[in-house]
Amino acid sequence: MPETPFWWKHGIVYQIYPRSFQDSDGDGIGDLRGVIDRLDYLNDGTERSLGIDAIWFSPTYPSPMADFGYDVSDYEDVHPDFGDLATMDELIAKAHARGIRIILDFVPNHSSSEHPWFLESRSSVDSPKRDWYVWRDAKPEGSPPNNWIAVFGGPAWEWDQATQQYYLHEFLKEQPDLNWRNPELVQRMHDVLRFWMRRGVDGFRIDVMDRILKDPQLRDNPPALDRNAARRFGQTALQQHTQDQNWPEIIDAVRMIRTVVDEFPERMTVGEVFGTPENIVRYYGGDKLDGLHLAFNFPLVRIWDRRWTAEHVRAKVDGFEAALPKGAWPNYVLGNHDVDRFVSRVNGDGRGQERARVAALLLLTLRGTPFVYYGDELGMENVDVPDDRLQDPARKYGRGRDPERTPMQWTNDGGFTSGEPWLPYGDLARNVEQQSADAQSLLSLYRRLAWFRRGSKALRFGDYAAVDGTPRGIFAYTRSHGDERLLTVLNFTNDAIAFELAALAVREYVDGTHDGGAASGRRIELAANEGRLLRLE
Ligand code: NOJ
Repeated sequence: MPETPFWWKHGIVYQIYPRSFQDSDGDGIGDLRGVIDRLDYLNDGTERSLGIDAIWFSPTYPSPMADFGYDVSDYEDVHPDFGDLATMDELIAKAHARGIRIILDFVPNHSSSEHPWFLESRSSVDSPKRDWYVWRDAKPEGSPPNNWIAVFGGPAWEWDQATQQYYLHEFLKEQPDLNWRNPELVQRMHDVLRFWMRRGVDGFRIDVMDRILKDPQLRDNPPALDRNAARRFGQTALQQHTQDQNWPEIIDAVRMIRTVVDEFPERMTVGEVFGTPENIVRYYGGDKLDGLHLAFNFPLVRIWDRRWTAEHVRAKVDGFEAALPKGAWPNYVLGNHDVDRFVSRVNGDGRGQERARVAALLLLTLRGTPFVYYGDELGMENVDVPDDRLQDPARKYGRGRDPERTPMQWTNDGGFTSGEPWLPYGDLARNVEQQSADAQSLLSLYRRLAWFRRGSKALRFGDYAAVDGTPRGIFAYTRSHGDERLLTVLNFTNDAIAFELAALAVREYVDGTHDGGAASGRRIELAANEGRLLRLE
């Protein structure tokens, strides 16, 4: 593996939802052996492959699968559906041999209610592990200790009849919250990180980073300012989560995690946090940058039809750039296992597939680490899963996430499994085999962009500057490093002629030719006109 301490800045991270990428044993559930078999698709060192630099796996640990792996019952093993530790070791070694890093999902906020720690904790109020979770007495009239609403809906407290106390669960009741104020628990969780780093894991995507510490006094959350938000985001949006999310002391726990991760060279962390850009960047640790390496920047996943405009996207990019502390590195996410597929989010007028091309160009040419959700490189769309095949328990509390978790589409017949897939396939006309044979396909565009990016210092670590004064519907920016200077011009409208003119004007502006100045440096132009890549030199 070449030494590249900043691989997490320069590389493309590809998210694999392990149940859905490739099944090797015909049980209809994806597994690690399946991923090993597909490593060449991800990066075989040539432009025939996707050219990614790292894989982030959603959880692969033993779990009763109440929340499909985000309910961990053993942090130091692999779920038998996915394989075993030996297969994980083999996967790490074979990925490394191709220069691909491995990022695991670390789930510190809660375990499974079937984790031996919780079973011990709930066995008695005197259990040595009682304090590893958050237990409280009922209020005098018997109600929960406070008004917190769980993310999936309903009270965040579950009554335990045997020991006559409530325990806290910010997600399902099968996901009791761990107590990050207990030093023993903290030590144990740090050791989990060391366990995986010793096995060669390169980094961690940290689940629910913004909730691991709460108000120690457990005071009520105030009501939401916008009561309508609940309609879109579920019951949990009936409250402002001032007491149970983004609690200021979390940064201390983050710094301790960073210290542990820094015991091993070239490792990284990316945390799941929500809020304003100002809030998100706090997790980088301020001027010292001693917090997370990256904190997820989610505005692009919150874009639905109306907001997919040049102006809105530019505002989000510039907003994050402006908020970052000096030296901190941005990142961009178009999709993940919790939100509608990108194409489906912007498909109100049926042009979602074209927009996916502009989005690919945006994601792979902005300054910042790109996160690509498996299948987005094919333009996979939400799948309408029949009621009798729905899987995600969260659907009982709001929106289920099955539509964006369906099997990877490899061939006209699917190619994901020889058995019955755990979720149905989407439109199989959109598959790897077919798109590999078509130079105009979205997959071919992703491949070209990824490999172009690998060869471009300007794209991997150059400066970003938006071009002002572009016509409505055009977002243009330069990326520069030394004497390499690139211009990306993105047309968010479908007016081709206006775009040709706009692109010309932008080009002149950037070259300085509009006022007679000389063009400086090498200029390569990347332009997308609602999907058509005008030139990629
Ligand atoms: C965020 C994960 O992305 C989501 O899938 C999960 O349900 C919750 N955290 C709880 O772990």
